[in-house]
Amino acid sequence: MSTKATHQPSHHHEKSYLVTAALCYVNNVPHLGNAVCIIAADAYARFLRMSGHRVTFIGGTDEHGTTTEVKALEEGVTPRQLVDKYFAIHKELYAWFSCSFDAFGRTSSPQNADVTIDIFHKLEKHGFITENQVEQFFCEHCKRFLADRFVEGTCAKCSYAGARGDQCEHCGSLLTTAELLNPKCKICSSTPKVKESKHLFIDLPKMQEELTAWINSKEQHWSSNAVQMTKAWLREGLKERCITRDLEWGIRVPKKGFEGKVFYSWFDAPIGYIGITKEHKKDWHELWHSKDVELVQFMGKDNIPFHTILFPAFLIGTRDHYTLLSKLSVNEYLNYESGKFSKSRGEGVFCDDAKQCSIPADAFRYYILINRPENSDTVFSWQDFQSKINNELVANLGNLVNRTTVFLERFFSSEVPAGKPGKKEEELDAALQVLYENITQHLERIELKEALKEVMNVARKGNQYFQETEPWKTKDPTALWMLTNIVKDLALLIAPFLPETSNSITKQLHIALPTWHDLGKKSIHGSHKIGKPEHLFQKLEDGTVKELRERFKGKGNEASTAQEPAVLQLRVAKIIDVKEHANAEKLYVLQLDVGTEKRQIVSGLRGYYSADKLLGKHIVLLANLKPAKMRGVESQGMLLAADDGKDIVVLEAPKSNPGTPVLFDGVEAQPKQQITYDEFAKIEILVKEKHALWQGHALIADGKKIAVKMSDGAKVR
Ligand code: MF3
Ligand code: ZN
Repeated sequence: MSTKATHQPSHHHEKSYLVTAALCYVNNVPHLGNAVCIIAADAYARFLRMSGHRVTFIGGTDEHGTTTEVKALEEGVTPRQLVDKYFAIHKELYAWFSCSFDAFGRTSSPQNADVTIDIFHKLEKHGFITENQVEQFFCEHCKRFLADRFVEGTCAKCSYAGARGDQCEHCGSLLTTAELLNPKCKICSSTPKVKESKHLFIDLPKMQEELTAWINSKEQHWSSNAVQMTKAWLREGLKERCITRDLEWGIRVPKKGFEGKVFYSWFDAPIGYIGITKEHKKDWHELWHSKDVELVQFMGKDNIPFHTILFPAFLIGTRDHYTLLSKLSVNEYLNYESGKFSKSRGEGVFCDDAKQCSIPADAFRYYILINRPENSDTVFSWQDFQSKINNELVANLGNLVNRTTVFLERFFSSEVPAGKPGKKEEELDAALQVLYENITQHLERIELKEALKEVMNVARKGNQYFQETEPWKTKDPTALWMLTNIVKDLALLIAPFLPETSNSITKQLHIALPTWHDLGKKSIHGSHKIGKPEHLFQKLEDGTVKELRERFKGKGNEASTAQEPAVLQLRVAKIIDVKEHANAEKLYVLQLDVGTEKRQIVSGLRGYYSADKLLGKHIVLLANLKPAKMRGVESQGMLLAADDGKDIVVLEAPKSNPGTPVLFDGVEAQPKQQITYDEFAKIEILVKEKHALWQGHALIADGKKIAVKMSDGAKVR
């Protein structure tokens, strides 16, 4: 038998790690999507610890900034009361999810104020802080400057109507006051004025070269989306960034002439990782000032430049030799069933709901990690959740552990028999070694989803071996000895992902949690006495799933019916041929180029357009309309046109290529396979100010509104 375990990490590779999970805003109870980054960071931290490394896993809450102030106003409490309340909620929920933080703290701690002010003074001392007058919105009614989320309006770059003062959530652009159209005060809805105020900036242009060199030395460890975004910032040329705000809530700026101002929350939030370490760990200073400590940071994709450019710049500029980002792991978003998680609509599973579902936390951890949105967004669906619990956790992992322990109890008086491996066992061991090495490598590269899939393949191999050796007939001691050791390996392999499940397995086997060095070793020998078998997971029944789906489907107010036109599949199409319909004097037969395909549609435009006027136009095609025969000619979709009762005007996107999606701004498209004309007719699209709107959402192609030369009230159909 081969006992060579090549995946064993050797002792001289032991290192010290700082692992961070993005600090959570405290304006809400976290939903499952928010938990993705934290649970991933936890799995990685656990893996590192089990491999013998020294790990400080840091998390906590991002408590300053206007997100907090706006929410405090909504709840009628002070910001301090609000953050105290939500800090407690977050802390409790992550504990329920078995997150093994070594330091879980808050950006509003005195320690973080100390570290932030120290970093600021050093930046200043080394000439990286500048002063500038900035234009800002000021609400005369509320007598205050409106930073960031205190003002909303329309983004000048993409026309999204819910853009905030600092950034448009829709297109991601950072906005200046001039680029936020129709601004409104979030508190009183009046239109703010633009006023000047003096602020402090970090001089990133001065650091451009140094940062570029540092980034170039790091990029091989970063995911491609992080490298791309960071390079784009560098290519555009770094700009000075304002690090102060006219707000009450935050860390006060310790500088003459800046009384009444606080630091921008994106200044003290990443510094919060250090502040939190200081809050909880005696060795915080050496951890954060060491070349030998590896800093690994987990975050959502919208956080990338704050971690790859700004935070490093804050630290490098101190000349204090801070520990800098080594690896980062970025996730995209986890959405909920039909759309987004929304607490106000009661839609989606929030972590407090999850806790009350009487489904174990590990089931949610499993789902989140096996669906981890690593390269693209993923969706939580109850059906998928049920099938993963029942088919993977219960029928695969749970079944192997249970049948093994129950067999030992029933036929071997709970005592592991001694085994003599034969050819079959050697083959199985060889196959397992390959899996074990893959898993270890995936974990080292933070490919958590792939690693977990392979762990489940180990269980699958175990089950296969069980089927083939038929211990229920043979009572073969070797088979049970093999299986016990595979279950032991699973206890350790699953531990980073599902810690409670791992605890249950080690308890059933009556062993201590093995480390990564024990992987693949037959360390459970004959005559070892196991504990009591118990079930790892319970099947999730159809009835329960139905109930849960009902419970979390939301109130269905305007905001969720707001997704109605999502079912439409609209595409720009070019008219490449126009013929008259042989049997209908009002109809044309049009040939369209839709980018990847050609289509034929029949259209009633003969009274309104001549054939040569239509030819070459880029129109908007409803592409998923059920095909129909019109007077004997097949029509595969229809084009959109505005109709005021007298005239008809075809909607056009002259600058967009055939195939370009046409969307309602702010409505996430989830086209159905096919829709009927009646379904389409129920969606009321009206012309207003020369645009086609559905409940205020304009039709757009390539981010630009589609212009319609018709008066208000005309119907688009
Ligand atoms: N609170 C921010 C968010 O949820 C993340 C802050 S990360 C930190 O997007 F680096 F600033 F801490
Ligand atoms: Zn106001």
